[in-house]
Amino acid sequence: MKSYNWDNLSKAEMIELMSTNDKLLLQKMYDEAYKVKLKYVGNTVYFRGLVEFSNVCIKDCLYCGIRKGNSKVERYSLSKEDILKSAKWAYDNKYASFVLQSGERTDEEFVSFVEEVLIEIRDRYGLGVTLSLGEETRETYRRWRKAGASRYLLRVESSNPDIYKLIHPDECDFGKRLQAIEDLRAEDYQVGTGVMIGLPTQTAEDLVNDILFFKEHDIDMIGMGPYIVHHDTPMAAMMKDYDPNHQLELGLKMIALTRLYLKDVNIASTTALQTLDSLGRERGILAGANICMPIVYESDNRKNYLLYDNKPALTETSEANMKAFEDSIHRIGENIGYGAMGNSPHYKKRKEQNNG
Ligand code: 5AD
Repeated sequence: MKSYNWDNLSKAEMIELMSTNDKLLLQKMYDEAYKVKLKYVGNTVYFRGLVEFSNVCIKDCLYCGIRKGNSKVERYSLSKEDILKSAKWAYDNKYASFVLQSGERTDEEFVSFVEEVLIEIRDRYGLGVTLSLGEETRETYRRWRKAGASRYLLRVESSNPDIYKLIHPDECDFGKRLQAIEDLRAEDYQVGTGVMIGLPTQTAEDLVNDILFFKEHDIDMIGMGPYIVHHDTPMAAMMKDYDPNHQLELGLKMIALTRLYLKDVNIASTTALQTLDSLGRERGILAGANICMPIVYESDNRKNYLLYDNKPALTETSEANMKAFEDSIHRIGENIGYGAMGNSPHYKKRKEQNNG
């Protein structure tokens, strides 16, 4: 087996590793990435309680099950009280961080709804809130930041503009996505981004370029996962040689290489991994991830928030779901960072530099 300087991989080596089918080499790479995780972020996994509060969406992304053009979706929006009930549950169960995700909307009714929810969560529970609500104006980002949100997840989906164009309708613009990420940084959010892995035309080099993009943009948190087909979307037809096992392996490779290259950032072991393999969550952590996002809302509507096929945990209670996460994390010898915000060392370092 060729030997690598794992601490300092070149771009060419990363492309080689992203392309390899050598099982022994892959296991070695996951093990090395896990060692880097232990060294830089420790053997603790942090939970972010996730509420998918609405599947109403103005966008028509070609891959996404809740795209506006999918008329088979039963649309829902949770009430403020329902969201606050979940926030209370998360607070009572020592989740220091709470994620609000929904389809994209930019109308004032929506913007002020989110603003009010944020203020209530801050006043009642003092929870750290992460938003994952898509592209908004800088003014909206500012309002939500003021109302108490401190982190924002906005995936770039692919750092290759041609792929971005291929998987989005014409009205979506790559430059606008980049601008939104810049705006979030300028409004003093901890910014998370990420990509989908295993997209049509995407090469090993594209994926390595995604990792370089995270570095270049000084990203604190990374949420990325394998692309999974949703049968009622236009992209399903573009995936003739779709192989879920290949998608899973690409997802794990990306986590490992991102950990090896960026070292001190937060990386999520996402639901998409768990969808492709019942041990996907554990495998993600053992390849270098350190964040999990258990669902923390009870609603018959969970089955209507399907971005892709076969999403797991649609009916379990928040308790049962949390227990499943706890068991799998303890089984692999990791702790859970209850009651801690779990900011990445990368973020802390930057804050110190800015203040000092
Ligand atoms: N497969 C995997 N991930 C998806 N997302 C949307 N649709 C899919 C899919 N079919 C991801 C996108 C989006 C995030 C909320 O979910 O990356 O940013």
